Amino acid sequence: STGSTMCKAYFSKKALEASEVVDIDWDGLGFGLVQTDFMYIMQSSSDGTFNKGELLPFGPIQLNPSAAVLNYGQGLFEGLKAYRKEDGSILLFRPEENALRMIAGAERICMPAPTVEQFVDAVKQTVLANKRWIPPTGKGSLYIRPLLVGSGPVLSLVPASEYIFMIYVSPVGNYFKEGLAPINLIVEKEFHRATPGGTGGIKTIGNYASVLKAQKVAKEKGYSDVLYLDSVHKKYLEEVSSCNVFVVKDNVISTPAAKGTILPGITRKSIIDVARSKGYQVEERLVSVEELLDADEVFCSGTAVVISPVGSITYLGKRIDYGNKGVGVVSQELYSSLTSLQMGLVQDTMGWTVQL
Ligand code: COI
Repeated sequence: STGSTMCKAYFSKKALEASEVVDIDWDGLGFGLVQTDFMYIMQSSSDGTFNKGELLPFGPIQLNPSAAVLNYGQGLFEGLKAYRKEDGSILLFRPEENALRMIAGAERICMPAPTVEQFVDAVKQTVLANKRWIPPTGKGSLYIRPLLVGSGPVLSLVPASEYIFMIYVSPVGNYFKEGLAPINLIVEKEFHRATPGGTGGIKTIGNYASVLKAQKVAKEKGYSDVLYLDSVHKKYLEEVSSCNVFVVKDNVISTPAAKGTILPGITRKSIIDVARSKGYQVEERLVSVEELLDADEVFCSGTAVVISPVGSITYLGKRIDYGNKGVGVVSQELYSSLTSLQMGLVQDTMGWTVQL
């Protein structure tokens, strides 16, 4: 009868839905690579234009040992996230912003880049192909990692003749093991992340290799990460190894102006807009390290870290504590507003989410 057919159809749909999410320990997710089914690869033609990419099973890629990215670091990466909503739909957060940042970075290190349309289309395809790896609502997100690298062979220092744009994804939970609990930072006096005129303002791979040493030393001393100062005056805040920084004082929220040595974070930019829409005064300017001494709250922002409250900062051997070991009110308010928007729990009045 129609009833039993409908019944069977209902149950097979349920079975399908169940198998649509992989069976892994979603509560144990941190920020580490969990390999998924597919990766996206788009190779440039020899004239440097990108034409057609494809989804391939996730796995190793072949590179010439003389590829420009391996020899001279001609490479960029991006990071964005997809969330699974309760109704089964998927939300991306501002993917065209990542595309634009990749285009700007590519210009700085002489690479061709996919168009915004190509980038966003590739992100969508990769996420949909790996849909079963998107964590259930409330259990995390799918981190999307686009890469653009010089794959053509070089020996002398010149831009590559060929490029690969690729995307892989991984389900992730919290970046810092602390989760939403405050992290402990140390101000780095010896090492700097970027210099004026350098590449600190783009998401080039080398920026991240250059912070590993300071980060390792800090972690050995029990800190979560390092807060860098500007390399000229050794006085103004720049950013943390993997995220931007905000300082809150008397309802004024300040963050270092992104003028070349600071990564123009998309979460950073979104927080500025959300905070202003909530009536906060937000200042992008030089923020002196001395301001940490009497700040009410400090928090970090990034795609991976989202908003991470800072519980203490150690500077010149002196520890400054914030928020009584809890999340500050401003950090908490911004975290809630931003994440409920990203996860589709509130109406997206900003027009930032893209639904799949
Ligand atoms: C991100 O937040 O997406 C980043 O690219 C930082 C990275 C070190 C995980």
